[in-house]
Amino acid sequence: MSGDTEFRFLTLDDVVTKGKTVFVRVDINSPLDPTTKQIIDDTRIKMTKYTLDSLREARVVVGSHQGRPGDEDFTSLEAHAKLLQGHVTQRVRFVEDTIGPEARQQIKNLKAGEILVLDNLRLCSEENISATPEKLASTIMVQRLAPLLDVYVNDAFATAHRVQASIVGLPQVVQAVAGRLMAKELVALTQAYHNPQRPSVYVIGGAKAEDKLPIIENILSAGKADKVLVGGVVADVFLRVSGTDFGETENLKLEKSPALLEKARSILKNYKDKVVLPKDLALSRDGKRVDVPVGQGTKGDAVRDIGKETSSQYAEIIKASKTVVSSGPLGVFEEKGFELGSKTALEAMASQGACSVVGGGHMGSYANVLGLDKRLSHVSTAGGAMLAFLAGEELPGVRALVEAARRQKS
Ligand code: 3PG
Ligand code: MG
Repeated sequence: MSGDTEFRFLTLDDVVTKGKTVFVRVDINSPLDPTTKQIIDDTRIKMTKYTLDSLREARVVVGSHQGRPGDEDFTSLEAHAKLLQGHVTQRVRFVEDTIGPEARQQIKNLKAGEILVLDNLRLCSEENISATPEKLASTIMVQRLAPLLDVYVNDAFATAHRVQASIVGLPQVVQAVAGRLMAKELVALTQAYHNPQRPSVYVIGGAKAEDKLPIIENILSAGKADKVLVGGVVADVFLRVSGTDFGETENLKLEKSPALLEKARSILKNYKDKVVLPKDLALSRDGKRVDVPVGQGTKGDAVRDIGKETSSQYAEIIKASKTVVSSGPLGVFEEKGFELGSKTALEAMASQGACSVVGGGHMGSYANVLGLDKRLSHVSTAGGAMLAFLAGEELPGVRALVEAARRQKS
C-alpha cells in the first residue's frame, strides 16, 4: 500500500469481537525524560482509545514496543499501562512478561471488558529481527501467542514501516484487521500525498538518519518537495559531506556509516538547490547554549540544536509554503535552552494557514505540549512510517493487512 493505492484491508466493522480474544498491536512508544525516564507526553497512549472503545465487549491484549534494546528509552510498559487506564473505561492490567507462561496464563484468564497490557514486545528477541512475513510467522513469539487469539488488530500506524513479528508475522496466522487510528491516519495522509499545494516544504530532523535519507531522496525524486529543511543528526550528515569541518562536535557514529555518507553526498549532488542546510548551530558549552556559525565547534562541545539564524530562515520558508510536512525535531528540545529550532518551526507551521502536517512521536508530542496541535492540519502519531508513506513506499504493516483481507476473501 502506498499513497497511490486504495485501502483494501478489513476494519473493526468487518469482524465480531464480542467475547473474543483480540490482540491489538498499538504504538505507545513515547518520549521519555532523559534523566527521570518518565513519559513526557502520552499522546500515543491516548490515541489508542478509538480502537479500545470499540472493543469494550472483547477480551483485549495490548502489545507495543518502547525504544530499542540498548537505547536509553528502552523501558518496560508498566507506566504506559497506568496512563492508559486514564483514557479507557475498561479495567487495565499490566503483566511483566511478553510471551512466557505468565503472560499466556493471564491472556487465558482475561474476561470480556478487560485489557491486558503485555510488557515491551522488544524484550522478546524475535521482535527485533527483520525477516520475511512467512519467517516471522513461524517465530516462537507468533506461535506462542497466535493459538490464544481470535482476532489481530493493527493500530500501530507509527510502526507500519517495520518488518517485525508483531506487525507482519501475527497477521499471517490470525484473522487480521486495521484499527481506527490506522485507518484515520491513512485517510488524512492520503490527502496530503495526492494534493500537495506548492510550494511544498519538508522539515526533517531527528536522530534516525539511516531511515530518513532514503526517504528524503524518494520525496525529492517523486517531486513532492520544493525544499527540504534539515536539522538534528540528519543535518549533521549533510553538513559533514558538504565539506563542513565541525571539529570535535560531529556525531561520532557517522564515522561508521560510509553508505550513509555516500547517500547524503548523492542527494546533495542531485538536489543541491532543494536541500537547505543550517548556517549556524547551537552547542552545549558547560551546560549553556552557545550559537556559532557552522564549522566553529570546539573540542568538548556537543551540537544540540540548529542556530538562531537558521531557525529564523527556516521559519520564513515555512510561512511562505502552501504544504509543509515535518518529522523529527531540529534539536534536543527536551533539554532546556535547546527548544528554539523545533519550537520556531512548529510555530511557523501553525501560522502557515494552508496544509501543515506534523509527524514523529517527538515533534507531534511537542506540538501538543506547545498547544499548537489544533492549528495544524494533521498531527500524525507516526514519524518514519508517515514519511515512508508520503514518499510513496509500501508500508509492510499495511500490506500485511491487505494480504490478510485477500486471504479471507479467497
Ligand atoms: C517510532 O517512534 O518511530 C516508532 O515507534 C518506531 O520505532 P522504531 O524506529 O524504533 O522502530
Ligand atoms: Mg521515534
